[in-house]
Amino acid sequence: MTPEQFVAGLPKAELHMHIEGSIDPELFLRLARRNGVDIRWQTEEELRAAYRFTDLQDFLNLYYDGCRVLVQPQDFHDVTRDYLRRAHADRVLHAEMFLGVQGHTSRAVPLAVVMEGVLGAMEAAQAEDGISSGLIVVVQRHRSEDEALALLDDLRPWYDQLLGFGLGGAEVGNPPSKFAGFFRRCRERGFKVVAHAGEEGPAAYVREAVELLQVQRLDHGNACLDDPALVAQLAQQRIPLTVCPLSNLKLQLVPSMAAHPLRRLMDAGLCVTVNSDDPSYFGGYVNDNYLACQQALGLGRDDMVSLARNSFEAAFITPLQRSAAL
Ligand code: HPA
Ligand code: ZN
Repeated sequence: MTPEQFVAGLPKAELHMHIEGSIDPELFLRLARRNGVDIRWQTEEELRAAYRFTDLQDFLNLYYDGCRVLVQPQDFHDVTRDYLRRAHADRVLHAEMFLGVQGHTSRAVPLAVVMEGVLGAMEAAQAEDGISSGLIVVVQRHRSEDEALALLDDLRPWYDQLLGFGLGGAEVGNPPSKFAGFFRRCRERGFKVVAHAGEEGPAAYVREAVELLQVQRLDHGNACLDDPALVAQLAQQRIPLTVCPLSNLKLQLVPSMAAHPLRRLMDAGLCVTVNSDDPSYFGGYVNDNYLACQQALGLGRDDMVSLARNSFEAAFITPLQRSAAL
């Protein structure tokens, strides 16, 4: 059995992907035409060529611009349904997806349009492919905490259908502490909480996410390695990391896959998972991420099995769902 076949057959959960980051070039052009949205690119080749980034902000500029093709409920449905179909093909049994609602409401797209489209696609994917999924609303950290609090209230009609809240966007200069009140309120209202931390930002941001925001999972978290006491705490509390190797490479946070810290994070005893982040922008879905690490870091089959097991341990699923998957 080749490594490709082994990874393809491994049941897994994906816990760190942004729905808006999975619009593939073909769908992007189709949605732009359908909605009469002016875009800079005419062909899939032009679009793919534009997907080169120097850092997180450089990527976010293109990513937020790309969101303009999402206008109607059907658009949100199509992008979500396409991702879940693609994830199912990668043997993802359960996906927890990020939705950056403020990137849409700030363009005057009503919240109901966004939620109706995404939630309908999640139901369809469960019915048609048997893939379960959860939705995590990610607030943009360059915006104010008051805006995040207002969004939390505006989402009240959909509370039953939301798994939790997260924090994303431009990390440096926007530390987790800026959102301590928002996260407290999310927790008080019974939501799971996660945060991007230690992607471009320092270990101190990872510590804030754990100690101030009391996150149940860290998105990225790579920078924790700079603080051995923090690593020990994360290992002891078994706080999972949703690591995104190809994303880190494309955003030039690591010079090569061989230099990626995944193996060091695993060796430190952390609950590490592998995820695609923004698969269409970063050139790979979840299995591509497993394989890139396997090849560059010499992971064995036992390592890949641990990563997949960790993904179910780290997922916000019931013990019954977990034992069915393992
Ligand atoms: N980091 C922060 N915010 C994001 C990302 C990311 O990798 N992708 C989409 N929003
Ligand atoms: Zn992310």
